Amino acid sequence: MRRRLRLPRDASLTLLLGAALGLLLYAQHDSTALTARTSAPQARGRAATWRITPGSRAFQVRDTDAAPPAYEGDTPAPPTPTGPFDFDSYLRAKDQRRFPLLINQPHKCRAEGAPGGRPPDLLIAVKSVAADFERRQAVRQTWGSEGSVRGALVRRVFLLGMPRGTEGTGTQMHWHALLRAESQAFADILLWAFDDTFFNLTLKEIHFLSWASAFCPDVRFVFKGDADVFVHVGNLLEFLATRDPQQDLLAGDVIVQARPIRARASKYYIPEAVYGLAAYPAYAGGGGFVLSGATLRRLAGACAQVELFPIDDVFLGMCLQRLRLTPEPHPAFRTFGIPPPSAAPHLRTFDPCFYRELVVVHGLSAADIWLMWQLLQGPSGPACAHPQPLASGPFQWGDS
Ligand SMILES: *[C@@H]1O[C@H](CO)[C@@H](O)[C@H](O)[C@H]1NC(C)=O
Repeated sequence: MRRRLRLPRDASLTLLLGAALGLLLYAQHDSTALTARTSAPQARGRAATWRITPGSRAFQVRDTDAAPPAYEGDTPAPPTPTGPFDFDSYLRAKDQRRFPLLINQPHKCRAEGAPGGRPPDLLIAVKSVAADFERRQAVRQTWGSEGSVRGALVRRVFLLGMPRGTEGTGTQMHWHALLRAESQAFADILLWAFDDTFFNLTLKEIHFLSWASAFCPDVRFVFKGDADVFVHVGNLLEFLATRDPQQDLLAGDVIVQARPIRARASKYYIPEAVYGLAAYPAYAGGGGFVLSGATLRRLAGACAQVELFPIDDVFLGMCLQRLRLTPEPHPAFRTFGIPPPSAAPHLRTFDPCFYRELVVVHGLSAADIWLMWQLLQGPSGPACAHPQPLASGPFQWGDS
């Protein structure tokens, strides 16, 4: 059981205001710093891996002896497995699968007050960790913006657990206060009382599904993904415009016939006792996928019946299988493996024209996300020498 914070009212108010001020200052510093770094990295004495080359519109890799890019280090990596997985304690603890919600956004999907008094067309849910404020800011200011996008009503939440190893300590109070302040400022934080670790991402999945079916029961579509992806929301909405939210849909980067890793040394090692079959059910890469409101509600029920499994996207595949639902592969979701540009120069992975044709791309720093957004924004979009984008011609969401 977690101890709840109990501070005298005045003390907590002061703490909160202090944290809010700190956050605001940080946010301001953050956006100016990003601009400065991206527009004139040299002048600030920092070497950026990527830089705009006038005329070519592509980014080029600088020589390798240059200092490492500063902003990469500024953005904490998303949770990754640390050390061998302790299956015994996982199996012992896995019956505990309900944790309290410490920070809620109960009004996120309320139709009252929303334009047209209707529920959101698209709820964007982004997995994040407490320390990754910078990426959350980048997502807020770019593809995760709330409001009307091509006529669609878009809302956003971030999904967080508690930073590990802080239980009952001052550090935990610090994080809690900071996240509360961030929640007051942006109204988009969901915080649950479980440890935010790689192998607890499955807990994040089931808690989000039940939160969304309770607090966003009428949402038309949900995009769920990582904070280090770039999402072309226009292309996503265009794809969804032809779909019925009352029908089942779960689309993304679909992996079929993936075999469980049986090598003990691997971070993804799964013993036969935990999963005995030769292949996992089809699943969508957790970096980013989209589902209909109907599927959201059915999944929340189905996942509640499935035993916890330490790999979150495979777990979701198991819930889908229970519903006899096959995830739909979409070629514009790239959650695994856009190769680094140096390895695949022909792919021009940092060319906005490349992104223009995709829906989801994985593995970006906060600065990458922000930059790509700026490059895609121009009045008529980027001038591309090559094929038509997926999105040709304007369309309005919800006219039909
Ligand atoms: C998941 O979170 C619970 C509750 O905080 C914690 O006891 C457990 O160790 C975590 N599990 C893993 C695998 O990190």
